[in-house]
Amino acid sequence: MQAFWNEKFQTPQMIYGETPNAFIKEHVDLLVHAKRCICLGEGEGRNAVYLADLGLNVEALDASDVALAKLRKRAKEHYVAIKTRHTLLEYWQPEPIYDAVVCTYLDLAKNEQMMLFEKAVAALAPEGIFIAELFSESQIHFNSGGPKNALLLYDINAIIAWIKRLPCKVLKLSQEIVMLNEGTQHVGRASVIRIILKKNLTA
Ligand SMILES: C[S@@+](CC[C@H](N)C(=O)[O-])C[C@H]1O[C@@H](n2cnc3c(N)ncnc32)[C@H](O)[C@@H]1O
Repeated sequence: MQAFWNEKFQTPQMIYGETPNAFIKEHVDLLVHAKRCICLGEGEGRNAVYLADLGLNVEALDASDVALAKLRKRAKEHYVAIKTRHTLLEYWQPEPIYDAVVCTYLDLAKNEQMMLFEKAVAALAPEGIFIAELFSESQIHFNSGGPKNALLLYDINAIIAWIKRLPCKVLKLSQEIVMLNEGTQHVGRASVIRIILKKNLTA
């Protein structure tokens, strides 16, 4: 898996583009007051650098050291400091210290997807925000990017069931057809799941 992503990120180009994900940008008002933020499966850092530019204290976690090297280079060019965590999400032990957790297109296997939600919410301080955009199972019918393996796509009904058990409020949870324009990898009509959760004050 790491070898797969390292090879993909080998090019000097930002393969998912230089601008942040549109959904994250649209809801940045929910994030700007966050003191500490972590971006999960952050790749080359388009969201992390955007948020650090806005003054957030940002960390980025990813399995690919090649992607994280690109992220650090870009952070340097922007005169921002971003702490990188080179690890699989599976090995990360979250503590409830972040005001925001951000995740775009972390393609996990079915048996690991619930862990993403559990760890993201576990990482949030009270009233912290988890915001994510993920490819839905319907993305298998589109040619705009994402895995061509249904086992790496997300089922909104499963997400609903997982979230019910977590100490958080759902601010948004929807499956939408959107137009992606993210570098060379995500281009065109796509089926995504958009999620915003707020950690309970008393969790
Ligand atoms: C589709 S890319 C998205 C990158 C970035 N979030 C973006 O939207 O530009 C998926 C990223 O998740 C990382 N990744 C995949 N599986 C992972 C895992 N189990 N733990 C940590 N990172 C993982 C990959 O290395 C890659 O950077």
